[in-house]
Amino acid sequence: MSLISAPPSKVNNVKRDYVTLFNLNADDNACRLIEPRSLHEVASDKYSPFVKMMQGLLVVDSDSDAVPCSKMDVVDINVTCAAEELIPHEIRASQGIFFTGDQIAEKIALSLSEEISAGSSFFDPSCGAGNLLLAIAKSFPLKRSVLDTLDFWGKKFGGCDLSESFILATKLRLIALALRRHGLQKVSRQDLESYLRLFKSFEVADYLGTEFGADFDCIVANPPFGHITAPDGVAWSSGKTQQAGVFIAQALMVAKSGQRIAAVLPDVLRSGTRYQKWRHMVEQNSADLHVDVYGQFSKTVDVDVFLLSVNVGAERRVDRVDNWQPTVRRVLDSCVKLNALFEVRVGPVVPHRLSEKGKLVPYLTTHDAPPFSKVGRLPKINFGGTLYSPPFVVVRRTSSPSDKARLVPSLVQGRHSIAVENHLIIIKPRDGSLKKCLELIEEFKEERVADWLNAVSRCRHLTTKILADIDIVRERYE
Ligand SMILES: C[S@@+](CC[C@H](N)C(=O)[O-])C[C@H]1O[C@@H](n2cnc3c(N)ncnc32)[C@H](O)[C@@H]1O
Repeated sequence: MSLISAPPSKVNNVKRDYVTLFNLNADDNACRLIEPRSLHEVASDKYSPFVKMMQGLLVVDSDSDAVPCSKMDVVDINVTCAAEELIPHEIRASQGIFFTGDQIAEKIALSLSEEISAGSSFFDPSCGAGNLLLAIAKSFPLKRSVLDTLDFWGKKFGGCDLSESFILATKLRLIALALRRHGLQKVSRQDLESYLRLFKSFEVADYLGTEFGADFDCIVANPPFGHITAPDGVAWSSGKTQQAGVFIAQALMVAKSGQRIAAVLPDVLRSGTRYQKWRHMVEQNSADLHVDVYGQFSKTVDVDVFLLSVNVGAERRVDRVDNWQPTVRRVLDSCVKLNALFEVRVGPVVPHRLSEKGKLVPYLTTHDAPPFSKVGRLPKINFGGTLYSPPFVVVRRTSSPSDKARLVPSLVQGRHSIAVENHLIIIKPRDGSLKKCLELIEEFKEERVADWLNAVSRCRHLTTKILADIDIVRERYE
C-alpha cells in the first residue's frame, strides 16, 4: 500500500495500514502521556509516527523491511495527505499547515534554475515537510558519492519550522532524494544518523524575530497565511495582519545583499487595498520585482495565490511601473474608468446594527436582487442613514474567480429612495441616466471585464476601488 498520490478518500485505509504495519498507535499513546504545550507541538506529535515510519523505510535493518511496501518512497510519499489525516483541521488552519503542491513547487524551482545549477544556497523559513526544498534538490548538483553530496547539500540547504517532526521529515526526504539520485535506496541506521547531522542549518523555531536564513543566497517560502497582530515597529500595518506579509518583511529586513526571495503568497497581499503599504515596503527594499498570478492554491485550499520574486539590495529601477498587476490591461483610448461616469459606494445598511429609528423606506438585500435583471417590490425598514435614488445598478460584493459570473448585477428603478444592504455595491450613473445602467449591465457580461478583474484581484470580495477602476467603452455611454 502506498501513499504516493493517494486521493484523500483512500487515505483512511492507508492510515489504517500504516497503523497496523508500523504500530503507529503505540507512538500516539506515548505522545499522549506528555501534556503538549502548544498547538504546533500537538501538530508535531500527531505527525511524528508518520515521520518515524519514513525513517524506518530508509533504514536497511529496520522492521519495515519485513513488510511488503516496496512502492513506498520517502521522496514522493504524500506528506500533505498524511498531514490532512493525522493533524486535525483546526490545528492545521491555525498553524498554516498547508504544504505546497507539486505544480507550484516546480514553478518556483524553475524560476530559480540558474541559482540551482550554480549551487547557490537555499533557506525555507517555514519549511514544513520540505516540499519547496525537495523541488530544488531534484536538480541540485551532485558530488561523487552520497556522502559527498549530502555533505555539500547540508551546507546548501536550511530551514525553520515550529514543528520538530516537519524538520525531521524535510531532512529525511533530502537524504532519500540524494540516495535515489545516486541509485541507492536504503542506508544503515548509523549512516542515517550521521547524514542527519550534516544538515546543521535547520532550526525548530519561530522564524519571526530571528535572523535565520540571512546569509543564504535564496529564500524560498510558502509562509503561513493566517492573521497575526503586526509586530511592534511594523510601519506598513497595525492590528491584525497577514502573517505571510510579516514573513516576507522579516526576510527582507535581515537579508544579505543580493539575496533572492521567491515566495507563494495569498493574493490579498498583491491586490488588497489594505496591503498597499506592504507592497510599497517590498518595493522600497528590493529590486527586480516579479509577480506571477497563479490561481487557487490547491483543490482543497480555496485561497488564490501568486508567486513573488525579488532581489534584495540589487540596483533599483528608476522608472517605477505597477509591477503587482499582470499586464492584462490594454490601455485603449476608447475606454474610460468606470468612476468617470458612475459613483461607486458600498451599501450602508449593516443588518445586525439596525435600530428601529429613521424613516420607513424600501430595503434592498442580495436576497431581493435577482441576478442580471430588475429588482421588484421591496420590503421596508426604518433607516436613518444614506438612501440612494434610482436608477442605479447593484453588484454583489462576494465574488470569486471560480464563479460562473464574476460580476452579478441587478437594476434598480423606481421613484423612491432606497436603503441598500452592505453586501451590495451601488453603481450609480452620475447623470442619473437609465440607459447608462443598462449599458453597464451589458458590458459587465463581457469576458474582457471578468478577465481583467481576475487578473487584478482574486480575492473573494470586490472592493469599490477595483470596480471604480474597470475600463468601460466610452462610446457605449454617449
Ligand atoms: C504553508 S506551510 C508550508 C510548508 C512548506 N514550506 C511547503 O512549501 O510545503 C507553512 C509552515 O509554516 C510553519 N509555521 C507556522 N508558523 C511558523 C513560524 N512562526 N515560524 C516558522 N514556521 C512556522 C507551519 O508549521 C507549516 O509547516
